[in-house]
Amino acid sequence: MDTPRYWGVIPAAGQGTRMGAGRPKQYLELAGRRVLEHTLERLAADPRIAGIVVALGPDDADWGRLAIPAGVEVRTVTGGAERCHSVLNALESLGGRAAPTDWVLVHDAARPCLRPADLSRLLDTLADDPVGGLLALPVRDTMKRAGTGDRVEATVDRAGLWHALTPQMFRLRALREALGKAIAAGVLVTDEAAAMEWAGHRPRLVVGAGDNLKITRPEDLPLAEYYLARQFQG
Ligand code: CTP
Ligand code: MG
Repeated sequence: MDTPRYWGVIPAAGQGTRMGAGRPKQYLELAGRRVLEHTLERLAADPRIAGIVVALGPDDADWGRLAIPAGVEVRTVTGGAERCHSVLNALESLGGRAAPTDWVLVHDAARPCLRPADLSRLLDTLADDPVGGLLALPVRDTMKRAGTGDRVEATVDRAGLWHALTPQMFRLRALREALGKAIAAGVLVTDEAAAMEWAGHRPRLVVGAGDNLKITRPEDLPLAEYYLARQFQG
């Protein structure tokens, strides 16, 4: 069997409703550049990434103004109603040039602070894995489950609970099938791992840095700027 290649997929078709910024958050300015420019560069940083597919919203008016990293082929597709549809469209567009057993790394457009060291560790750790996995972070707070009326029903054991980050790395055909079947069955999967779990697989958790935040609300933008500045200081 040929050595599998690695492809990047960036879902960037969201509207950024919680950000409420008047334009999708992937196009907001962060440290002098657009959020998505940082994200693209971070994913392209590993020379093992053979190409990147970015899923854009149907009314996207900003993509054409971005600086695209040199040295890696970047293509676009139109995204869908939910993140999972956007990812599936991107996977389908990869079908022509990628092998079924090639790896796909799905990484949120809104995570511009991915550390190159985390990316390469994810690739290294999962290279021979039968399933694949994701960057993740153990939760640190005590976890509560709410009952009715905002009252605590139970304290949930924190041991074994993780935050799911991205990239999430799976084989092209397995992920495409899992996502397609989950969507067809009406199961709402909010990340790729959930689709793989639903298909009966057990993705591997690879510890990632906590500064790989997903820009979600307005206060996250200055935080991301701080993390980027701190990363450059080393
Ligand atoms: N995304 C996508 N297609 C969609 C919805 C989301 O490609 N139909 C992408 C977003 O652009 C983002 C990632 O999935 O990079 C994670 O989604 P989220 O953080 O929820 O972004 P938005 O959906 O844009 O934000 P909100 O939920 O606040 O509207
Ligand atoms: Mg969303």
